[in-house]
Amino acid sequence: MRIRTFDEYQLAYQKSVDDPEEFWAEIAQEFQWRKPWTKTLQWNFTEPNIKWFVGGKLNITENCLDRHLATKGDQPAIIWEPNDPNEAGATLTYRMLHDQVCRFANVLKRNGVVKGDRVCIYMPMVPELAIAVLACARIGAVHSVVFGGFSAQSIADRINDAQCKVVITADGAYRGNKEIPLKSTVDDALIGCPGVQRVIVLTRTRTPVSMLKGRDVWWEQELKQVTAECPAEEMDAEDMLFILYTSGSTGKPKGVVHTCGGYMVYAAYTFQNVFQYEPDQVHFCTADIGWITGHSYIVYGPLACGATSLLFEGTPTYPDNGRFWDITDKHKVNILYTAPTAIRSLMGFGLDKVTNHDLSSLQVLGSVGEPINEEAWHWYDDNIGKNRCPIVDTWWQTETGGILISPLAGITKTKPTFATLPLPGVQPILVDETGKEIEGNGVSGNLCIKFPWPGILRTTYGDHERCRQTYFATYPGLYFTGDGCLRDEEGYYRITGRVDDVLNVSGHRIGTAEVENAINMHTGVVESAVVGYPHDIKGQGIYAYVITDQQPTDHDADLTKRDILATVSRVIGPIAKPDKIQFVTGLPKTRSGKIMRRILRKIAEGDTGNLGDTSTLLDPAVVDEIKAGAL
Ligand code: PRX
Repeated sequence: MRIRTFDEYQLAYQKSVDDPEEFWAEIAQEFQWRKPWTKTLQWNFTEPNIKWFVGGKLNITENCLDRHLATKGDQPAIIWEPNDPNEAGATLTYRMLHDQVCRFANVLKRNGVVKGDRVCIYMPMVPELAIAVLACARIGAVHSVVFGGFSAQSIADRINDAQCKVVITADGAYRGNKEIPLKSTVDDALIGCPGVQRVIVLTRTRTPVSMLKGRDVWWEQELKQVTAECPAEEMDAEDMLFILYTSGSTGKPKGVVHTCGGYMVYAAYTFQNVFQYEPDQVHFCTADIGWITGHSYIVYGPLACGATSLLFEGTPTYPDNGRFWDITDKHKVNILYTAPTAIRSLMGFGLDKVTNHDLSSLQVLGSVGEPINEEAWHWYDDNIGKNRCPIVDTWWQTETGGILISPLAGITKTKPTFATLPLPGVQPILVDETGKEIEGNGVSGNLCIKFPWPGILRTTYGDHERCRQTYFATYPGLYFTGDGCLRDEEGYYRITGRVDDVLNVSGHRIGTAEVENAINMHTGVVESAVVGYPHDIKGQGIYAYVITDQQPTDHDADLTKRDILATVSRVIGPIAKPDKIQFVTGLPKTRSGKIMRRILRKIAEGDTGNLGDTSTLLDPAVVDEIKAGAL
């Protein structure tokens, strides 16, 4: 499955288009299957109904763990770097990881988890998080990892939507100089989750926690009751592997569903080829396992390839802004995969904490999560990669399971801010508003994909119609990404950002409707409208226009703003807090009552010169007021 030259890439790409089934069947054969598949692909994008490796049986943990024991048993699978650099970290070899996954899988079984059950995981970035994820997969339970920054309400919504029976958490988490009380947040969430029968709690911070008799058990105590023997459950290629919630332009976050066979093949294939991983290299993906990047490029992709994956608990700026570089030198990191927002924030501190590091172990740099601006790209290239490490700007989504458009490190000629070319198996197409294909080069349009790849989402949990509506109905016959895209004269792709009401704040995906709903829950708020605006570090900031029942005086406006922030934190989590709140008396609406976001966006961007046609507004005067009060 390994591509080594640009010619090989072109050949692989051509083959993947000419005969996708044969192309992916060959790659899938490199994995361990209990029973071979009978049909490589069945699909239509109308219902949609997508099945890869039909009838094939496997367990992803046999591929990620057991398969490597004979040859790589003593090689590090996970290197763990704790939040506090003075705390001892840990290295888990493949044998140790296998042992711990089997043990914890037995803990799950002991606590009533059976194949098909959904398990919510809300944990810090410790090895036990990866162990919990893999233990679920081992016994065929479906994991739903919730990022540790989400609120009790968000956890409850996700637990209830997926009808999770068990929650795995920790007493607390360390993040920078903060201690975050995870269990207490889970306790708050569970007030609204009658279906949860068991909570398994890992000790991390020794924060005092309440442990309810009959419901809550300690991870460490449970481990004493089990053996390390745990045969892997035989799974159908299309059995659910995990659910991961992500924001859309409307309503509550939806549970994106990935399945065992296709996801495994795609995560491994893309990991191997995009990063050009070589045996014994250390791969450091700085994402949290709570996001898809962590699922695919900390856990499943690297482990399926027998790689060494570094898992970091802390933040890039603790104890100081040289932490990534400390880790790089300490663990001789070869591949660093991070987000533009992290690069931009580190850029802001200057080079003092960079130039006092060696960084010579680095061979490949990666970027993910949002468009990378030219300045950040060059800073990364010059100062971190010293102009000798290829940068792979990888474009993909929670829904795609793995990277779709990206250079292959050292093989594809890179170009700052361009994700460059589609990976084999990926057939991008640009369309206009009406769905007409925009052909040729030097064009822009809405990015769709016209053929399935093994890692594509299969459904949104519990609501297949929502999956159809969101991704497959806008342009019939195509998967719609929600992104705008430019294809330059060379045929290189550059993703320009979302064309729907989804924001990308510090690489975190947040729906404007979600933030509005949270703001509207605050007492006294009549209505709100949320838009994104360019933010130097976060990429996009959140700008909220809020109508309250009584116009706040200057004196209490500040307090009201802080109250609104507290409400948003409580409802969604701190990541969704607006950066700016402007109180207004009205919003620009059309006669049919639709908010004209285009105008609000322009004002938030500070571009009030040309607001376009405002004649269709119900009350054009409201625009002047908003302009005058813009922040
Ligand atoms: O807008 C694109 C942006 O992030 C969105 C997907 O977010 P999420 O599902 O949270 O997954 C993030 C990690 C895969 C996309 O629709 N995005 C992601 N990577 C890039 C990007 N935008 C530009 N360039 C990228 N490399």
